[in-house]
Amino acid sequence: MTNTVHRGSSIEFRKVRKTYGSFVALEEFSMTVAPGEFMTLLGPSGSGKTTALNCLAGFIDIGEGDILIDGVSIARVPTEKRGIGMVFQNYSLFPHRTVMGNVAFPLEMRGMGKAEIRTRSLKALEMVRLDGLADRMPHELSGGQKQRVAFARAVVFEPRVLLMDEPLGALDLKLRETLQLEIKQYQRQIGCTVIYVTHDQGEALTLSDRLAVMEKGFIRQLGTPQDLYDRPSSRFVAEFIGSNNIFKVLGSQGASVSMEGIGPIEITGRALPSAGYVALRPEHMRRTPQGRVVTRLEQAVFFGNSIRYVLTGADGKEISLIEPRTQGTQMPEPGSEVRFDFDDESLIYLPE
Ligand SMILES: Nc1ncnc2c1ncn2[C@@H]1O[C@H](COP(=O)(O)OP(=O)(O)OP(=O)(O)O)[C@@H](O)[C@H]1O
Ligand SMILES: [Mg+2]
Repeated sequence: MTNTVHRGSSIEFRKVRKTYGSFVALEEFSMTVAPGEFMTLLGPSGSGKTTALNCLAGFIDIGEGDILIDGVSIARVPTEKRGIGMVFQNYSLFPHRTVMGNVAFPLEMRGMGKAEIRTRSLKALEMVRLDGLADRMPHELSGGQKQRVAFARAVVFEPRVLLMDEPLGALDLKLRETLQLEIKQYQRQIGCTVIYVTHDQGEALTLSDRLAVMEKGFIRQLGTPQDLYDRPSSRFVAEFIGSNNIFKVLGSQGASVSMEGIGPIEITGRALPSAGYVALRPEHMRRTPQGRVVTRLEQAVFFGNSIRYVLTGADGKEISLIEPRTQGTQMPEPGSEVRFDFDDESLIYLPE
């Protein structure tokens, strides 16, 4: 498969609304995915991610609204005619078929000749570096190998769209990180459009060209990983992507801004409305004896390359500060005073 770059399709969700009885699983769900793009749906359990994939794949019918592939509505196109490959969390390999038999299956379904099936299946297995295990049974494989077989099976018929629903969810962290890089590399080789579902924000930031953060059936924000990390538009997104300290703005008088947990301080680097919230990333704060904010150290947690300080601000609010660790950093004692500061530009204003 190494040299067969074929184009991905464009996908458009148009105001899809999907209900189960009185329960609304998707609401006003609109998004456009460009050909060859890697789009991720990220959100907590129950936010509607799988529902969106299932509507696109044809496992459930689209309620209201429409979905278009390459500009054509698929509402009446049966699943097997949509040209979509799928990878699920639990591999869902056929237990009584060999690795080769699993990968060959979609081609057999399409009525392809035996010789061509073999050539194509081997190519797909070569891509995931499992051509040496073609005759094994699924139960003779590790979790990572099973997931590679599932991936090979999903792309063997060269779909223009590939959907993946928490494909790495069952694997341990180290293996997840390895396979994340592989998935990205395979997608570049294949050139298909990907919609990927995860509730792991780190994975979403690593893999995606763009991602949509979902909550309760709604897309709360859609953008590049950098957009969402640097410019979250709501508390939900600010808290979901990376870690953030969220401070409620209690009021302002000139340059003096009062925030929950911080108390009134002078903010001259930028103007802030006198209500709403601000987010401040732990890694954008620095400990300094002249810091504007006075806190008490709850505990310092050692992370190897960094130290996380859990601080108590005014009104007992917990504040988190992360500092890169340089050798010989003296960790202050719990209970001692810690002052910190930050550049005013690193405050992110959140209207809600
Ligand atoms: N067949 C169904 N009947 C009734 N409710 C359903 C059905 N399928 C899903 N739901 C509900 O719709 C909501 C969205 O489900 P969905 O599976 O899309 O969530 P998800 O974002 O994929 O969550 P997870 O991360 O747990 O997989 C959930 O609250 C779920 O309980
Ligand atoms: Mg799901």
